[in-house]
Amino acid sequence: MIADKISWYPLPAEIRILILEVLLQDGCSLASFATVSREWQKIIERHNFARIKLTTSRLVDFGSIIHRNRALVRYIWLCLELQEYDCTECAPSPPESISDTDNTMITTAFEDLFSTLSTWEPNGNLLLDISVYSPSDSEHWFKYLTFEPDIPSEECEQGRYAEQSMLVKGDDHQHGRDFVLTSSAIEKVFDEIMDQGPFDNDEQENHWWQQLPLVPAVTGVLLRQQNRRRWKPTALVQMFDRLPRLQEIYYEPWREWCNILQPWTDRSFRSLFESLASSQVRRLILFENFNQLYPCSFCIDCNPIRIPTSDVSQAVANTSLQLEHLSASFIVDASYFFHACKPSWKWPNLTSLALTSRLLAPDKCPIEIDNMLQAAAAAAMKMPNLKTMEIWNGKVGLAMLFRCQLAGVGRPAIITWRGTWEFALRSPVIQSWEAVALKHCSHGSVIIKELLDAGIIKSHGDAIYHLKLLTLVIRPVSLRQIQIEHRIREGVYS
Ligand SMILES: *[C@@H]1O[C@H](CO)[C@@H](O)[C@H](O)[C@H]1NC(C)=O
Ligand SMILES: *[C@@H]1O[C@H](CO)[C@@H](O)[C@H](O)[C@H]1NC(C)=O
Repeated sequence: MIADKISWYPLPAEIRILILEVLLQDGCSLASFATVSREWQKIIERHNFARIKLTTSRLVDFGSIIHRNRALVRYIWLCLELQEYDCTECAPSPPESISDTDNTMITTAFEDLFSTLSTWEPNGNLLLDISVYSPSDSEHWFKYLTFEPDIPSEECEQGRYAEQSMLVKGDDHQHGRDFVLTSSAIEKVFDEIMDQGPFDNDEQENHWWQQLPLVPAVTGVLLRQQNRRRWKPTALVQMFDRLPRLQEIYYEPWREWCNILQPWTDRSFRSLFESLASSQVRRLILFENFNQLYPCSFCIDCNPIRIPTSDVSQAVANTSLQLEHLSASFIVDASYFFHACKPSWKWPNLTSLALTSRLLAPDKCPIEIDNMLQAAAAAAMKMPNLKTMEIWNGKVGLAMLFRCQLAGVGRPAIITWRGTWEFALRSPVIQSWEAVALKHCSHGSVIIKELLDAGIIKSHGDAIYHLKLLTLVIRPVSLRQIQIEHRIREGVYS
């Protein structure tokens, strides 16, 4: 491409840099370009060191390798790869926990990582993206799983490649088309991290977390849905406690499959969200993922759809008071959230709020929907910096969004109602939102309605896509993974 040096160097420096930047946006593997020249090396290093992938083998000496360039690092993808497994272990019954070897690998990785990062001076933003998976996960029952860094989908064509190769792999007799996913195959990939060992009890585990050094350099944590192994919410309380400058959390846990475990998990969620109320977190993006096909694989009680509880919604509402951005999907319900809000509450810094509600469904009582939307308007009256509020719902064959956009002084507020069925916004609801518009000095309000075709909503991922939400409710790479999973599973079962 640049073999002819004679025609390259006479180019003005700005043009050379421009060309390089185009290459950097386009490509995925650039290490080889860095050897071309000193000029290239500098620019490419800046780009390459901004985002680094850490595996356990690189953790031990990454501090010394990165030393010179650590001010450039903006994103660390920590990949904790569990041991590989074969068909004798891909759907163990009774279920087996994560092995001692793997749990010890995880704790050692945290010790190494935190002791290196603790020496880093705070310098701008640093995102820590943690993935725990086994390379074998995508070789048995879940061929479509991909373990990717957090990059926007346009950046590389990798996603498309992955989808193609999975379709080719589809002809697998052992886990293939004729076999229904069993609960043990599902439970295998949703194992809990540090559940059975390496610690004997919670006290020991908490003590271990508390002796890890503080890491002020990290400002954001990502726990994406590709990470199916579950972190205990109580472990996250401890982890976040080690990150005193933590401002952003993107947490995409999967729903619990077994009804009997749900109250326990909800209690832990509550302590997690309560612990954030006293932190510096400004952006909290919660997305509880699910797949509507999995519950059919369980003989035990497993609700077809997760039913949020008022307790968790209350804890999130409490934390919202200090946030700038909040999105909580499926883990809370907007009706509980607004019900928990006290008349004295104010949200001085909140600019965007997105919540799901099960009430947004064609079979729900219109009066309850009205009440919720009016309660939302009452809260919005006390959010002086609010720009966008979105209340939505999505599952197979259903998508619905109520949105209010406050575009600023002198411009009209835009109220949008977009979904898969007709719904009349009644005048008390419209009046309460007109009052919100007035309070935010908008110039009147505009109402937009749009009907979507229910047939195109094959999953909650499609709902997010077609509702054109303005709030970031999930990482773009996670959304793409959800859409691919449903497209492929549907192919398998039809
Ligand atoms: C809300 O959080 C505060 C701490 O910020 C705590 O004192 C209070 O009890 C919490 N209230 C609820 C309802 O959880
Ligand atoms: C709102 O933001 C300001 C400025 O960043 C900060 O000082 C204040 O504590 C925040 N308010 C709340 C309730 O968190």
